[in-house]
Amino acid sequence: MKKPNRVLMVCLGNICRSPMAEGIMRSKATQFKIELDVDSAGTGGWHEGERPDARARACMQNHGLNIEYLKARQFKVADFDRFDILFAMDESNYQNLMTKARHAEDKAKIKLMLDYLGNSKLKAVPDPYYGGAQEFEDVYKMLDLACENFCQSIIDLEK
Ligand code: 4NP
Repeated sequence: MKKPNRVLMVCLGNICRSPMAEGIMRSKATQFKIELDVDSAGTGGWHEGERPDARARACMQNHGLNIEYLKARQFKVADFDRFDILFAMDESNYQNLMTKARHAEDKAKIKLMLDYLGNSKLKAVPDPYYGGAQEFEDVYKMLDLACENFCQSIIDLEK
């Protein structure tokens, strides 16, 4: 794998999972001293311009991470040109991105975030939108580990 510099986290609404993933990946990249541009987007545009969900912000705050400044936006095809990897939070996001891909090069950039969860059988970051604080905390833990493993994989590329 060529060393990625720009990654996009993608979920459905861009107010729960992907902004959390963005905040966590930014923090891990800083910890690992990796230069990584991180952004997030939703396959749907209903929440365009909104801050992350209050429960996502609170969960991140509990872990010392601030995502108050983020604003939701919808994924656009030009994102295939801007980013090296598009991390889909679940299979539905993955399929949605696949249908938007223009060619094999675009498709090769689409990954499932939880493929970086080691040997776990879990493939999808569950949508916490209809859940509560515990569901957001569960999402945090999965993303924390997956982002850490991804950053470690970049360090390993440099060895
Ligand atoms: P997200 O969660 O995809 O993790 O941001 C959702 C946010 C909003 C909706 C669904 C999921 N919604 O239906 O509005």
